[in-house]
Amino acid sequence: MPATWWRTAVIYEVYVRSFADGDGDGVGDLIGLRERLPHLRDLGVDAIWLTPFFRSPMVDGGYDVADYRDVDPSFGTLADFDAMLADAHALGLRVIIDVVPNHTSSEHAWFTQALQSLPGDPARQRYHFRPPTPDGLPPNDWESVFGGPAWTQVPDGEWYLHLFDPAQPDLNWDNPDVRVEFEDVLRFWLDRGVDGFRVDVAHGMVKAAGYPAAGLTGQIGLLGRRVLPYFDQDGVHEIHKAWRKILDSYPGERMAVAEAWASTAQRLARYTAPDELHQAFNFEFLQANWADPAAVRASIDSCIHAAESVGAPTTWVLSNHDVRRHVTRLGSLERANAAALLMLALPGSAYLYQGDELGLPEVLDLPDDARQDPVWFRSGGTDPGRDGCRVPIPWRAAAPAFGFSPTGAAWLPQPPAFAELAADRSSTVELYREALRLRRSLTGPLRWHESPDGVLDFSRDGLRCVVNLSRTACTLPDMPDSEVVLASRPIDGGALPADTAVWIFARTARSS
Ligand code: NOJ
Repeated sequence: MPATWWRTAVIYEVYVRSFADGDGDGVGDLIGLRERLPHLRDLGVDAIWLTPFFRSPMVDGGYDVADYRDVDPSFGTLADFDAMLADAHALGLRVIIDVVPNHTSSEHAWFTQALQSLPGDPARQRYHFRPPTPDGLPPNDWESVFGGPAWTQVPDGEWYLHLFDPAQPDLNWDNPDVRVEFEDVLRFWLDRGVDGFRVDVAHGMVKAAGYPAAGLTGQIGLLGRRVLPYFDQDGVHEIHKAWRKILDSYPGERMAVAEAWASTAQRLARYTAPDELHQAFNFEFLQANWADPAAVRASIDSCIHAAESVGAPTTWVLSNHDVRRHVTRLGSLERANAAALLMLALPGSAYLYQGDELGLPEVLDLPDDARQDPVWFRSGGTDPGRDGCRVPIPWRAAAPAFGFSPTGAAWLPQPPAFAELAADRSSTVELYREALRLRRSLTGPLRWHESPDGVLDFSRDGLRCVVNLSRTACTLPDMPDSEVVLASRPIDGGALPADTAVWIFARTARSS
């Protein structure tokens, strides 16, 4: 493993409750994950990131944590976690876990205590409790990311802040109890051997003093980028600096990746300064407009530039558990696979979401009564929310629940079309495996070549990556002594069809 493994790592997101169900209750768990680790080793990823598996009432799929030091019974036990971690390490896979510091669950002992206390009690000061305005209204106009007001009133008249669901009260990071507690939680998991953390809402912990009005004119989406008094406040950087010191005090190059949103690439880069977190997700790339290939190229350049300005690696991601899967977003599996080959050829670290390697689309027709995302409920059923990208993974075409669980149970129904995409049948897996294998030989910077409109063409070391995002076929560059080693779909001769990418290697430089 290279010294700074995370600079080039491919990290695979496991949305635990939808990955593999070991005990047959229809909910993915740590035993199921453990059994499927060989799939991830064979795929060739360097690390896995596990979404929250801690004790939780599951109002927001586990991003509402009731106990940060225990495993939710639906996912298993701490012993199951330790066994999974040991197996992952034995297979050469690092393990990163989610930490959710912006808010707890309303069932966390601290919040229960706060509710049982009177206004002004220290137990309330671990959260943001505020008196109503003289007219009895919420303290200000802040809105929940999931829709509706960000404040909920308790029976004694005070309001508490929740930037997400009311079941996710925001913690008050000005309170030293909170800082001490989370430093201890990090140590708890680092001592168990985790390789790092994905920091949820890493830009949210500190709120502007005095709770100034946001002056919102509408709702902010999950992917919103407004300048807001509760996001990207300068004070969050102190927290990340303290966490970096803790990570650095452990052997084995532990790392952290920020889920952070900032109004500019420069402000985002601050999260990955040398004394802060190691990486930040690159949502700019995820949100790029693929109908405008020149904009995709410009965004690649600006992301590389911003990361370089602080000496951090760029990261790339096309899908995760919060967004519509890119097969659907980009319009076809062909285009999605072309985008994947582009992403995997770029310098830096790449994140895959479970099912990317199968070519899974978003499930758009889930029955309303199956939906569980709080976004669906908070929007009064006008926003379908994120369940469509969280449908349990198909492993075997001919098994009940497509092999997701031994009993055939699945917490969200899987569409019949998943049969053709199951891991034992999907034609996409081999493409990802090969790309991940070849990618290991790439170390150099990216160099663009002149190309026709709609075509992206660049080199890295011995690799030439050509991606045709236009509507018509284009001609491949004339490159003597080289060969197309990987294509996102079969190609014929020197023409590159629309929505297709190829990796061309000079015959001498090709790694075998
Ligand atoms: C970001 C997580 O990815 C998302 O799933 C969650 O709902 C919010 N943070 C709140 O924790």
